[in-house]
Amino acid sequence: MAGLLPLVVPLLAATAVATAERSCPTHCGMIDIPYPFGVGPACSLPGFNLTCDSNKYSSHLRLGSPNVTVDFISASGSIASLAAHVLQSVNMPAGAGAYSASWEGPGRSFAISGSSNMSLFVLGCGVMAALLDRDTGAAVGNCSVVCAGEQVMERLPDGLCTGVGCCSVDVRVPLRAFTLNLSRTVEGIVRDRVTFLVICRDGYKFRTNDLAQGVDPNEVAPALLDWAILARADCARAVENRASYACVSNHSECQDSPIGGYVCHCSEGYSGNAYIVDGCVPNQYYGSNQPKANCPTRCGNVSIPFPFGMQLGCFARIHLYLACSPGPISPILQMTEHLVVTDISLDQGILRIQKLSGSGDFLDGRDSTLYALSGESSLVEWAVDNSTCGEAMANKYGYMCVSSHSECIDVMDDRTSRHLGYRCRCSSGFEGNPYIEDGCTDVDECLQPDKYICHGICQNSLGSFSCTACRHGTEFDAAARKCKASSTILGITLGISTGGGLLFLAAIASIASRRWKKGVQKRLRRRHFHKNKGILLEQLISSDQNASDSTKIFSLDELEKATNNFDQSRVVGRGGHGTVYKGILTDQRVVAVKRSKLVEDVEIDQFINEVAVLSQINHRNVVKLHGCCLESEVPLLVYEFISNGTLHDLLHGQRNGSLLPLSWEERLRIATEIAGALTYLRSAASMSILHRDVKSMNVLLNDNYTTKVSDFGASRLIPIDQTHLVTAVQGTFGYLDPEYYHTGKLTDKSDVYSYGVILVELLMRKKPIIEDENGEKQNLANYFLWLIGERPLKEIVDDQVSVETSNEEIMGFARLAQDCLKLRREGRPTMKDVEVRLQLLKGLTATLKKDVDPRAPREGGMKDGRESVVAVTSHDGTRRFSIEQEFECSMHLPR
Ligand SMILES: *[C@@H]1O[C@H](CO)[C@@H](O)[C@H](O)[C@H]1NC(C)=O
Ligand SMILES: *[C@@H]1O[C@H](CO)[C@@H](O)[C@H](O)[C@H]1NC(C)=O
Ligand SMILES: *[C@@H]1O[C@H](CO)[C@@H](O)[C@H](O)[C@H]1NC(C)=O
Ligand SMILES: *[C@@H]1O[C@H](CO)[C@@H](O)[C@H](O)[C@H]1NC(C)=O
Repeated sequence: MAGLLPLVVPLLAATAVATAERSCPTHCGMIDIPYPFGVGPACSLPGFNLTCDSNKYSSHLRLGSPNVTVDFISASGSIASLAAHVLQSVNMPAGAGAYSASWEGPGRSFAISGSSNMSLFVLGCGVMAALLDRDTGAAVGNCSVVCAGEQVMERLPDGLCTGVGCCSVDVRVPLRAFTLNLSRTVEGIVRDRVTFLVICRDGYKFRTNDLAQGVDPNEVAPALLDWAILARADCARAVENRASYACVSNHSECQDSPIGGYVCHCSEGYSGNAYIVDGCVPNQYYGSNQPKANCPTRCGNVSIPFPFGMQLGCFARIHLYLACSPGPISPILQMTEHLVVTDISLDQGILRIQKLSGSGDFLDGRDSTLYALSGESSLVEWAVDNSTCGEAMANKYGYMCVSSHSECIDVMDDRTSRHLGYRCRCSSGFEGNPYIEDGCTDVDECLQPDKYICHGICQNSLGSFSCTACRHGTEFDAAARKCKASSTILGITLGISTGGGLLFLAAIASIASRRWKKGVQKRLRRRHFHKNKGILLEQLISSDQNASDSTKIFSLDELEKATNNFDQSRVVGRGGHGTVYKGILTDQRVVAVKRSKLVEDVEIDQFINEVAVLSQINHRNVVKLHGCCLESEVPLLVYEFISNGTLHDLLHGQRNGSLLPLSWEERLRIATEIAGALTYLRSAASMSILHRDVKSMNVLLNDNYTTKVSDFGASRLIPIDQTHLVTAVQGTFGYLDPEYYHTGKLTDKSDVYSYGVILVELLMRKKPIIEDENGEKQNLANYFLWLIGERPLKEIVDDQVSVETSNEEIMGFARLAQDCLKLRREGRPTMKDVEVRLQLLKGLTATLKKDVDPRAPREGGMKDGRESVVAVTSHDGTRRFSIEQEFECSMHLPR
């Protein structure tokens, strides 16, 4: 399987009108074939004829004679290149004084360019290698390798190619074929095996192991060969002969190639294939209004609906083009070299993504104005075009919500409030794909009785449904989902006909009592609803467009069903504010249902407060509120279910008698995520939100140990221009801001103090209230501030930290905690400052790690096999991807 290839936008191969047959294949497996390349002479220019061996499992594209296997072809922009492995191992018996190896490209039109930063690497022991241009016989360069004993070689740092085991020759002239003359040198240790490969200059990192095992082509990037049209020597001469001039598209340009001949590309502002008539299309409209027939719709297990697409004619706009590439296990869907798409949602307008490497510009080359990619999140919002809905609808030609019963929505970047553009959705009551003609179809609500509740005769209609109560004398049979003769009536009739007066009366009484009970219950619920200020809430929620999408008022029935009548076995937590149950909604969502303890008006206010706060915020590190229920005596809140307990448990809980290991990186990440959430609360919403009860017990952890700040019962909204509020002091002992405690004045710095306590918990792994040496209970915060002046840092911190982490990093972290815990709030940093300082610390940790352990990027994953709570979100660090990054030096994504 080939390594990941750079993402290159496909070219208009399908529509090759004048030059190629209509039936020419446009791709081989997953490799695009742009004209002038093609399968068969009728589909290609001379010299560019490919063969495609493709079956269900793999495909190979071969070119020229001798056959060269091509991994991909680019023909756009000024890049005219293809990727193929140039890699050989030869056996040179120790006795032989000289040996000659050679490589030949796929034809005259192809060469390893002298200007694309390629190098020849030679791996061996005791050889001199001289590289000659086979066409001219001229020397290109030479290098020699010696080796030392095994013990010395093993200790060589990786990536060093300076004549010990590995040497390299830069290729600075075009090479269509080369000869490599190998001769024995006498010094040092000698090995039979000699391996050579051509690859981007810093695309290969030598390992001593490679001497014995050779290089696995799957693990290194291929070499890049330039190609050009050789019919004329350069553009000036090519233009003279219009009949054979290859740059046939309007808006195309000719460019002399460094390997001789010329190449064509589209002019500025246009994209596409300059080698075919009308191949160059304005950037803005590069794409298709409707998908062509037989567009592939899956890549691995990800399904790809239009307007996204993987081939020309299948995507609506160039920024919606995704590439399906061979991956480590199954094909992966790439947006850029560093971004893999794992799910596409048309309804929600988001992509779920994975980042492949830890740094860099993830959108490189992609139109970043149409995507909202946040630093951390794995969700990306997208728009189909940069205009507003108003503009798009006025512009009939480009409007993409083409299905009937579809509508346009403006897409905003949640974090920055920037207008991204618009996207489409099916109108309410319809489902499907709004981007294709007649893509939105009616939802038959009657077939989904769980979602659309109807206790009567359900009738579907276009875009909606009607529900009529059962006729008099019949009642709804839930099992059969239809009205049937009422059993109570039957009973009465029976009673009368048997003439038993007593029986008759009893029946009437039981019915009446049942009815009465139902009525009373209903009235009670109504009353609770009012008491719980349901009306206020409904208004609150519906006044906010964003909130109403996600926040919902649940019925008591629904929640009773979800929690099995608030069964004790479903209790997952009890806190100061109430009990939390695990529940499963009818749509299979797992939720946490929080039942408040008290019914005093204060509590109800707090509850409404929490709904008001949470319904306005949407942040990856803040627990998500699905909705609430107001019919019960006590208010109920419905949250996303967070499965892995609290940070407090993680830090202080034991498993099999010992604490879970928690690496420095994890501690930093957790601290950063909490800081991010608090910063967001402080500044992102229109009102500033003070949490007021920041503590490790209120930080939840999900499956991936992503943190979720929770429990907003005590939070307060304050208008941005107001600096403080005077309130009754609330909070948790051990975390409480002393200045707030004394003055009752609440500011955003109060949360910073509490946050500082969490930092100390992370650093020392001690609970916020501890017993000091004298057995007295004490605030961890004060104890820490005292200790830090008394003892060396390494003695204060948790053992794992003191072993794993440098003084410099610990110092940075401790200083930050110290600042957050300053007695006077003026001295404390803002939450934003905290976040920035943590980012800097993260950077420091990353650089230190790299310096200390040059092998780290090779081994990937866990370092020492110890169980560790590492959120593995990507394939960071595997050799494959780090090589890919380096491959960048010679390839760019054409815009
Ligand atoms: C090796 O290259 C150097 C210049 O780079 C040249 O002077 C020398 O003659 C070459 N040696 C051989 C054996 O080709
Ligand atoms: C797709 O497959 C990957 C692993 O092959 C898996 O992790 C992921 O959950 C799958 N996604 C879906 C939507 O099934
Ligand atoms: C949208 O993009 C086009 C082409 O890139 C540009 O000309 C136009 O000004 C943009 N419109 C808006 C509203 O940003
Ligand atoms: C080759 O490397 C130089 C210097 O690193 C760089 O400026 C140039 O863009 C590279 N050329 C290509 C084709 O990548």
